[in-house]
Amino acid sequence: MLLTIPGLLNAAQLDKIHQVLAEARFVDGRLTAGFAAARVKQNEEMQAEPERMQLLIRVLMASLGHNETFRFAALPHRVADPIFARYQPGMTYGDHVDDPIMGTTGPRFRTDLSMTIFLNPPESYDGGELVVRTSFGDTRVKLPAGDAVLYPSSSLHQVAPVTRGERLVALTWIQSYVRDAAQRELLYELNLARERLLKEGPGTETTGYVDRSYANLLRMWAEV
Ligand code: NI
Repeated sequence: MLLTIPGLLNAAQLDKIHQVLAEARFVDGRLTAGFAAARVKQNEEMQAEPERMQLLIRVLMASLGHNETFRFAALPHRVADPIFARYQPGMTYGDHVDDPIMGTTGPRFRTDLSMTIFLNPPESYDGGELVVRTSFGDTRVKLPAGDAVLYPSSSLHQVAPVTRGERLVALTWIQSYVRDAAQRELLYELNLARERLLKEGPGTETTGYVDRSYANLLRMWAEV
């Protein structure tokens, strides 16, 4: 499932992030890439200076923690510290899958989901679409500033070359309580039904069946 999350960051949060990034140093993105990815990766990433990073993490984690779509779609167990990447004209990131296991400084974790958060308005740069290759064809994603897209870390994807302006994004990876993408998608939809029922008929028998089924399916599939 490829899911967009509109308005993950509000205007104030975007401003704050832009302020911090304007003073940051960016270095060659190949420094954080595995062997295979380094061959196709051509971008720049913010140097993770601790104080600056803490500030950015606070803004981002607050918005993620409050976002219901993110919480119910990702069922996040662990969320990686974000990477801030920029692509200037000529930069690109060819086809790759993301590293399966991450966490060089903190605890190691499995990457089930990848998330790209767009930080610059789409009309300010040309190219730079995230192209996710699914079994139903390519999906090209380029969203308004503040919007995010969530996709399985196992999917082949690339960033199309930027030809004008600057593509600025935040990236993070999630280990989900539910490892299997199909199970996560089923839980996500069942929860949408559950929430509607809880709103429209909180005391009915049907609501009870669906509510308990959601809780018990999650219990059956969750790994902690
Ligand atoms: Ni990637």
